[in-house]
Formats: sequence, C-alpha cells, structure tokens
Amino acid sequence: MDENSAMHIESGVSLRTYNSFGLPAVAHTLVRIAGDADVRRVVDHPTLGRAPKFILGGGSNIILTRDMPQVVLKVEVTGRRLVEERADAWIVEAGAGEPWHDVVMWSLAQGYPGLENLALIPGTVGASPVQNIGAYGVELQDRFEALDAVDLRTGLTVTLNTQQCTFGYRDSVFKHSLAGRAVITRVRFRLPRPWKPVLGYLELERKVAETGIAQPSAQQIADWVIAIRRAKLPDPALIGNAGSFFKNPVVTPEQCRDIIGRDPEVVHYPMPDGSVKLAAGWMIDACGWKGKTVGQAGVYEKQALVLVNRGEAIGSEVMTLARAIQESVYGRFGIRLETEPVVV
Ligand code: EPU
Repeated sequence: MDENSAMHIESGVSLRTYNSFGLPAVAHTLVRIAGDADVRRVVDHPTLGRAPKFILGGGSNIILTRDMPQVVLKVEVTGRRLVEERADAWIVEAGAGEPWHDVVMWSLAQGYPGLENLALIPGTVGASPVQNIGAYGVELQDRFEALDAVDLRTGLTVTLNTQQCTFGYRDSVFKHSLAGRAVITRVRFRLPRPWKPVLGYLELERKVAETGIAQPSAQQIADWVIAIRRAKLPDPALIGNAGSFFKNPVVTPEQCRDIIGRDPEVVHYPMPDGSVKLAAGWMIDACGWKGKTVGQAGVYEKQALVLVNRGEAIGSEVMTLARAIQESVYGRFGIRLETEPVVV
C-alpha cells in the first residue's frame, strides 16, 4: 500500500490464531501494519488516532484474558537485508513482522553468524527487543544495533539505539515508558566479526563433550540449540504456550544463602553484579507442579516453567493456575515469581 491508499479496518477479529497460547479473545478493531505509513494512517485517523492501541506481533508472549477494546495494530512488516559490512561486524536488518526463527536461519545461510544461540524462539522480530529475548548464553541486547519505530502520538519514525532501549533481563523501555506508545517496524542486528561461538551454557557444553566437536560452526550450534529446545519446550504449533511463564527471580546473596540453607539443591547462578538468579522452573518443579492441570491449563511435563494449553483453555484458567503456582512457591521459598509474558 502506498502513502495515500485507504486503510483497511477490520472488526470483531478472533485473536485465537494470533496468540501462541491459543487463547480465545476478540479484537473489536484490528488494523494490519505493513510499513511506517500504515501507522501514520492510524495516527491521523479521526477516531482511531485518539483510541488506545495494543501492538500485536507474533502473539508468543501474551496471555489474553478478555476481549480487546483497544485498536489492535497487527505488525506485518516484512523484509531482510544486509545493511552494512563493517570490519568488526555485519549489520543486518529485518522487518518487525518477520518470524524470528526464519531470520536466524536466513542470516546463517547468508553467512552472517551470531544469532544461532537464539534459534527456534517463537514470535516475531519486532517482539525480540521488547522482552530482550535470550537463550543459551546470548541475549538480544548482545546482538542489537538499533531499531526503527513509529511514535503513536506524533506519527514520526524514530530510531533507538541500545542505550535508549534500556534493556534488562526480559525487559526494555517498551515494557515501561514506551509501552503501547511506539510501533517497532524494523530491527537492526550487529553481528560481531570475527564470529566467536558462545558455548558456556551447560547443555551446549554437554553437546561439545558428547559429539567431540570442539569447534562447532554457527550452523552446528543452531542445530544443537534446536535439538535442546525441541527436547524440553513444547512446539506452539502443536501445544499452545508462551514459553517461560515466569521470570527467573534475582535475589541477594543473603536471600540465596537462606534458601540454600533450607533447600540445598536449589539451582542458582551467580550474576556479574553480585546478585543471584534462581531457576524458577526448578522451584516450581520442587513444589510438585510438573504435569498438573487446572481446567484446560497445565504445567508442561518436561519443563515446569512453561504453562500449556491442553486444548480449550481460557485466559482466566491460565491465570488461576499461575496464581496457585506463585502462592506455593512463595509459601516454600518466600519468593514472589513475576510473570514473563504480558497479561492482557
Ligand atoms: N529445572 C528443573 N525442573 C524444571 C525446569 C527446570 O529442575 O521443570 C532446572 C533445570 O534442570 C536447570 C534449571 O532448572 O538446572 C534451569 O532450567 P533451563 O536450563 O531449562 O532454563 P530456564 O532457566 O528454565 C531460561 C529461559 C528460557 C531459555 C533457557 C535457556 C527465562 C525465564 N527462561 O529457562 O527462555 O530458553 O533459559 O537459556 O529466563 C523464554 O523466555 O520463553 C524461554 C524459554
């Protein structure tokens, strides 16, 4: 569509197939965004311009508990390209609506390694900076250059660098001051040259030991990551889920010692800043939740940090299960687990 073409406004759109948990909810109003001009058309629209908005990417990190009165902007911006080949990095850009995993595989096939540890993460490119996706020792912020977003108040395209995105663990400015205020349309990645493998994560170290491949290629690491994920994370195409349902809590060394005193087995990782990250999945498992079900919402059998849709789950059942888990983890460990996906 060009700058002048009319905007297509859809009403009463089922979001069930637009969220990876497969939860039922209806968007009263939905507009598809194929480029920055589409966002500007919404901003300039006499009624939609002022209405509250909800920005929907691949829907892999949301829990829908009700129908949506907001104007849902479904981001469908496509495109992948090498922007620049610097001596110290490849700069690669992808449209926010591109499936994340496809971009990872495309970049590897093109000879731009660096995203391999993040293979098979569900969702779209546009969501990757919002929650600073991370897996197997790499976070999006480690491979981030900049992004373009359209400001929903002004309709202007702005570019944000790493600092402006204020990335944290599964966190960014898009979950705080810019929540619902900027539509990310393109993301640029900085893939350092020369490429260096990141193999520090226990399960990847195990693959090196098992296979005897001490110097794996980026493609080999992607294959390992895919195999590791397939072995313990449910495929959203087959079993509805939103990945990890809770964040791994970060505690002080004193709190951690206290918990270890009572539960010596608790899985924990010291962080560079002196704090300690606890494995929420281990704690939930220790409370006996693995495989349990409330209504049609359940705890995945192979990884207690993942809640799943056993068929016809509704958002309130998922949240009832989530609250019961939070209470039992609090009761045993004194830790309040925070949900990782956005609850709507
Ligand atoms: N564990 C259990 N029982 C369980 C689950 C985990 O004992 O039911 C133990 C594991 O044996 C392991 C530890 O807990 O010792 C941590 O488990 P795992 O390595 O599977 O990682 P995680 O901390 O549960 C995080 C991310 C994942 C990411 C993996 C790999 C968060 C919230 N989750 O999970 O990200 O794939 O590390 O890097 O940080 C996501 O965000 O959606 C996601 C899947």
